[in-house]
This record gives sequence, C-alpha cells and structure tokens, in this order.
Amino acid sequence: IAAGATAIAGCSAVIPEAAGRELTSDLPLPERFVVPLPIPPVATPNEAGRYMLTQRESDVEILPGTRTRVWGYDGVFPGPTFDVRRGEPIIVDVRNELPAPTSTHLHGGVNPSDSDGYPTDVIVADGHDFDPGAGSHMATDADQWRLHRGGREYEYPVEQPAAMLWYHDHRMDFTAPQVWRGLCGMFIVRDDDEDRLELPSGDHELPLLLCDRAFNADGSFKYPSVDDSLLAEPGVTGDYHQGVEGDVLLVNGAPWPTTSVDNGSYRLRLLNASNARRFELALDDGGRFTQIGSDQGLLAAPQVLETITIAPGERFDVIVDFSGHDVGDRVVLRNLLGTGAAAEVMRFSVDRAKGTRYRVPKRLSEPPAIAVEDSVGDRKFAFALTNHEHGQMWTINGKPFDPADSLATVKIDTVERWMFSSDFHHPVHVHLGHFQVLNRNGKPPAPEDAGWKDTVDLRPYEFVEVAVRFSGHRGRYMMHCHNLEHEDMAMMANFDVV
Ligand code: C2O
Ligand code: CU
Repeated sequence: IAAGATAIAGCSAVIPEAAGRELTSDLPLPERFVVPLPIPPVATPNEAGRYMLTQRESDVEILPGTRTRVWGYDGVFPGPTFDVRRGEPIIVDVRNELPAPTSTHLHGGVNPSDSDGYPTDVIVADGHDFDPGAGSHMATDADQWRLHRGGREYEYPVEQPAAMLWYHDHRMDFTAPQVWRGLCGMFIVRDDDEDRLELPSGDHELPLLLCDRAFNADGSFKYPSVDDSLLAEPGVTGDYHQGVEGDVLLVNGAPWPTTSVDNGSYRLRLLNASNARRFELALDDGGRFTQIGSDQGLLAAPQVLETITIAPGERFDVIVDFSGHDVGDRVVLRNLLGTGAAAEVMRFSVDRAKGTRYRVPKRLSEPPAIAVEDSVGDRKFAFALTNHEHGQMWTINGKPFDPADSLATVKIDTVERWMFSSDFHHPVHVHLGHFQVLNRNGKPPAPEDAGWKDTVDLRPYEFVEVAVRFSGHRGRYMMHCHNLEHEDMAMMANFDVV
C-alpha cells in the first residue's frame, strides 16, 4: 500500500483528456514511416497438437540501429499470434524462463477459472526463488498464491464466436511493468459464420497491435518504477500513478511503421495493448472505417465511423478501402488524441493498382441477443480513487483488491444489469462475461460501444450500464480497470460464478 499511496498523493485536481502521463525517451525519436510493418509469427502446435510458448528475454531491434531487451513470449514482441477455430480446443504449455513470476491471461476468452491467468496463480522459473507475498501490496498471505515451477498448461476450449482476443501477463502488482517489457500477443478465433462473409484475408487482413513505449539512452525500455529492477517493489513513481504513456508509438512492435498496400480493401484488426494510452484513430485522406466487429466478434450490421476511440484492452475489426487512390499515394493513420509525434500512428503506401474492393454486406451476423428484461440482478461498481488509512488507492466500491474477497456472486447463464461509474479514465474489463452497453450517462451508447464487448471505455465522471451474461464456466473470475497502472494499484475485484 505504501508504494501506491505515495504515488497517488501527488494527484492533481485537474482531469486531463489523456488517460496517463507521457514519459520522454532519452534518445532521439526515430524517423516516422521508415520501418516496415512487421506481422508477428503465427503460433503453431507441435506434433502432439500442443502449443508451446516460452517466456524469455531477448534483445531485439525496435528502434533502427538500437538493441532493446524485451520479455517476450518465445522471445518476440508482440508474441506469436494464435489463429484457431471455434470448436477446436487447444492446450498451451507456457514455460517461464524470466527472472520474475508470470501469469498468462487470455483476454476475452471463455475459459475455465484455473486457466484464466489469475494474478496469484503464477509460474516461477526453475532456479528462481519466490517468496509469496513479498513486495506485494495486495496479496500478502502465502495461501493466496499458487505456484507452478518452470511452466504449466492452460486449457482453452475455444467455444466462442470468431473474434480477436489477446493474451498478456497478469501477475499480481506487476502486470504493468511486465506487459511494458513485452508480454502481450494476439489470439484470433475464426468460425464458419465469419468465413461465409469472405472478408479480405491473407495479406489483406492486418492484425495491428497498438501500444506506446519510452526508451532509455541505452535503448532499454524506460519505465518509472519505484524499483529499478521492476522486480521487487511494485508501483510507479510520483506523477505516473495516473498511468504510464510512452512518446514512441508502436504497431506490432515497430515505431510508426509503413506498409505497402494495393488500392483495394483491407481488414484491419485493431487492438489497443497500451498500458494507459487511449487513441482516437482517423485516416488523413478523410477515408472512413467500416466497423464489422467489436471485442467479441461480428456486429449484426456494419457501421461507418469517421474516427475510432479505442481504450486499453478494446478491439475494433474494420474494413478500410483505398480504391479512391492512385499508385504513389500515402495514407496516414492518425491519432487525434496525441500531440507531436504521437499524433501519427502508421502509414499505408498505395503501391499497386488492381486491388479488389470488398462490398460489406448489410447483414453480417446474427449475434445472440441479450434480454435485459430477464435481468435477475442490478449491481453497481464505482471505479474511483479512495482514501485509506495508508493513503489514496484506485479502488472498486471503495475496496482495494483483496484476493480473499468477492464483490459479487452471479448465477451461470443468467443476465444481470451492471452499472459502472468512474472518477477518471477507466477502461473497465470483465473476465469470462460478455456484455452489451445499454446506455452511457443515461443516453444511448456511443458508436464505439456497439456489439458484444468485454471492455468498455469510461471517461471521467461517466456512468455506463451494461447487460452482462456469464456462460460456460463456474468459479472465481475478476473484473478490473485495464489501465495497467490502476490495475496494479488495486483497482480489481473478484466475482464468483455459481
Ligand atoms: Cu486484458 Cu484481466 O485483462
Ligand atoms: Cu483505471
């Protein structure tokens, strides 16, 4: 508590439009639109049909001519992209060779509770000591921890509609620095429903993991931790309790990349994997995004958006069309919430003619409806800074996270109405359960709220009501703020599905 408390004591009364505070890199920023857009490798199962994933350190070139040490799944950042089909369960054998415990969560996955990547259910590398609770300000009792030596299996039934999920570290107190070091990757689920649409595919389907980082003069990632090792003492220094942003924008781990396209249609699968940064994306040619899917898969009908506001944890599945362009044209994906270099994200370079234009069908899918009149319970969750005996903390309903406590018990396969309220920018994420936004501040949902969601972007002093349903598994799950610094400073809660 002490670390979080000192940090939060410096909180300013002015609520900024930015969700975090931007760190400045100690080396010159790279030139924009030079590095080619990388596409992460695709994860492949071994002969036994299992996926093996090893978390390890490696030195990679993120900034041209500079080496950066990352913590990567298989040593790459972002980690390998899973590409799996609904109805085909998988087992992922995750090994940990890092000098710190890890827990891997599949964000948006409908998975058994013991494969959900609970923060205190950790893998400790062989040869590394781990003292449960040492340095933790939330879980201090040894019996709140479960330790796996060297590695463990996660079981993913993949019994859910086609969507882009993602996986990332979820270690108690240290999620933010460990994701910042590179522990995140994409996870695509496909199904027959989606195949029928014959969406742009192959090199016309671009998974785009957006995030930001800052760098020290020696090329290493810069993070304002209270503890230089990022291993022993949780928490960020003074001003960064709001959330940490970096001044370098990365797409698939490359700074302000460029990619070559033809003058046809592309499917962009956008994920905001930043610790705290929100983006408002726009195309500088005035082109629109035709949104076809949200966090949990296809929308019933497409919607055309001029800009997309995307908070940490959210995904948008969109079609963009370069057919109005001549060879040689350049289109920049801008970030209207960023200033300076952070106002631009990446560039598309139209290099080839004869692209294929995709006509988006008027009906995309028949997503299951949610009948809010069947709601069996109303609950309220207030995401707010709260005073505690040890100082101020980010809390839910006034309570800092306690692994031994549960804020709700819900019945499987029933619908509930949950109201989230916030005092700051809080992207609220619910594990296991999927929801539909019913209203925002008592008014109709924002365009970005469309479809089945698992994360919803709350701005300062907003309230959002959702209809949520938990299916598939019973057990203990959690909800939390997806600003990873807030999450590490106790803005999490358990609930139980019975
Ligand atoms: Cu993406 Cu519990 O998080
Ligand atoms: Cu928050």
